[in-house]
Amino acid sequence: MSAEFHFGGDYNPEQWMDHPDILEEDIRHFHRMGINTVTLNVFSWAFLEPEEGRYDFSFLSFVIKRMGEEGISVILATPSGARPKWLAAKYPEVLRVTDDRRRMLFGERHNHCYTSPVYREKVRLLNERLSEEFGHAENVIAWHISNEYGGECHCPLCQDAFRNWLRKRYGSIEELNRRWNNAFWSHICRSFDDIESPSPIGEHKNPSLALDWKRFVTYQTVDFMSEEIKAVRKYSELPVTTNMMYDYDGLDYSRFADSLDFISWDNYPSWGTGFGGDGVLVAADNAIEHDYFRSLKNKPFFLMESCPAATNWQPYSHLKRPGVLEAASLEAVAHGSDSVLFFQMRNSYAGYEKFHGALIDNSGRCTRVMKEAEELGKKLRMISRVKGSIVHAEAAVINDRESRWAMEGAAGPRNAGLHFRDNLRRIYLGLRSCGIDVDVIDSEHPFDGYKLLVVPMLYMFRSGAEQRLREFAADGGTLVVTHWSGVADECDAVYPGLSPHGLADVLGLYRTEIDALADGKTNTAVPAAGNKLGMKRSYECSVLAEVAELTSASPVLVYGDDFYKGYPAAAVNSYGSGRAYYIASMLEEGFYADFFASIIAGCGIEPVVSGLPRGVFASRRTDGEKNFVFMQNFSASEVILDSSVASGCRIIAGSPERLPSYGTLVFEK
Ligand code: GLA
Ligand code: ZN
Repeated sequence: MSAEFHFGGDYNPEQWMDHPDILEEDIRHFHRMGINTVTLNVFSWAFLEPEEGRYDFSFLSFVIKRMGEEGISVILATPSGARPKWLAAKYPEVLRVTDDRRRMLFGERHNHCYTSPVYREKVRLLNERLSEEFGHAENVIAWHISNEYGGECHCPLCQDAFRNWLRKRYGSIEELNRRWNNAFWSHICRSFDDIESPSPIGEHKNPSLALDWKRFVTYQTVDFMSEEIKAVRKYSELPVTTNMMYDYDGLDYSRFADSLDFISWDNYPSWGTGFGGDGVLVAADNAIEHDYFRSLKNKPFFLMESCPAATNWQPYSHLKRPGVLEAASLEAVAHGSDSVLFFQMRNSYAGYEKFHGALIDNSGRCTRVMKEAEELGKKLRMISRVKGSIVHAEAAVINDRESRWAMEGAAGPRNAGLHFRDNLRRIYLGLRSCGIDVDVIDSEHPFDGYKLLVVPMLYMFRSGAEQRLREFAADGGTLVVTHWSGVADECDAVYPGLSPHGLADVLGLYRTEIDALADGKTNTAVPAAGNKLGMKRSYECSVLAEVAELTSASPVLVYGDDFYKGYPAAAVNSYGSGRAYYIASMLEEGFYADFFASIIAGCGIEPVVSGLPRGVFASRRTDGEKNFVFMQNFSASEVILDSSVASGCRIIAGSPERLPSYGTLVFEK
């Protein structure tokens, strides 16, 4: 791959195939903007195989060659995300069945059964041909497998596959009945054939079934993807990726990482309108995802899609204000991306996405967006030595999909919303306000190498999580565990005994009850007299308030109101050579900044930059010898930087004196 950041994005020129002049016009614009990479073929199946078994790669071949002549690299997609009409008409089994057992009609995209042998076979044949034709083309640099895998199918083929998957997992139906507690409501299954996927017209209140179904959907999707990968690998060694989505609840992406050479994801934040227009929260929320995707493989990832202007599917097609495009793009780079790629290079002239932002619009003229992209291209070339470097975080926060499925699928303790993401964002902001890098990891990710590990609302402990958390603290790590952790096992059965399961002695306390506060209702966390962190302020608690009985821990904050007044809202306990902190509720944002500021030195983590005001973030990429520090300001006003921040450092981009709103400083340290 090239020494420069990959800069470009999705390009679907088959829409103007009969207008070669447009292609040439686009190429001129690509050069003006410094575009060096395009993603082709994402939705081209109907052109590649106009009739069953008749392949026609002439246009694709022409475009790849044309890009090559212009020095532009190609990320080549397998087109399985949308199928041609002939396929659905001849083989209805390729179409999805919904959870209420209705077979879908042809239409939309991602509307296929990932179990169907016919679909798998047609995709295999096409992918193999693509591999043979283009797997060695000089300017093709990677395979983009399908597009945003997602959704589920409840057809008879999928039911069978699900039953087989359960058979392997449980061994016997008796074991499944026991683990799921099917004695409840007399739902004992006589054999695996009794099992049906969750349905609104059938079983939809069995949380263990729902959880295993979601796991199966991930398993089957990964299996489908692996077959696609095998097919493109037939004649090609190029690296493979698939583009993933923001906080997507339908799949557990942690299970995809091993099958891929590098991770990529599609990033569409609501700049200007999200979180009441608070850019700091948008930036933090976005950064959580960058860190999550980076942590999947602990190496550089690709920003595969982002919108250069305004999306057409969000509530507001809000234009990116001048500067936002650059800040958002460099945020991905600061967190470990080796690319800045957009959806899309040129607007469709009709169809669902005709109003979706693009670098080149239907006027074909040079626009504001294009000018900003041109400047961004220059900036990326200025910082190109950063490419390939990694982020080495010493703090991690757990964001575990399976646990969230189970927690969010359970009836209680707060069906009006558990606010996991909000809680996570507050914690993340608190950590980042200390000027440190943070990994966002699954609970099965190794913990060694971290000095601080935050475990927010980890409802499900599986695969010995409690043991690994215990060892982490015993070995000198700083562990922070919040409310509603260690409740249930991998089948969503409640653990007997003290909770958080297996950690009561580590935390020096155990949970007795959890109270749901209605929207708008709050409690207060007030400093415990003589608390070890020297906390002096009171903070608002909302959403959930856990009540715990202390054994060996000492309180840091205590509830100020209600019948559990005086019970710990935060506590600290020494364990082995480490320390375990407990937070009992969702506290206001400011708490997390104060809390982490008071413990960070004790964790032994050296901040990248300390003393950051709200909205200014610092991150660091390293190539083993050199460190590249990124500072970004997502607040609404300019920040004057302390002269010590970059003194003696080589400035790569931006000013070391002042960081404008949405400005970025990059220096070598
Ligand atoms: C997704 C898809 C693209 C396009 C964009 C629009 O990320 O992968 O094909 O639909 O959304 O935002
Ligand atoms: Zn199916």
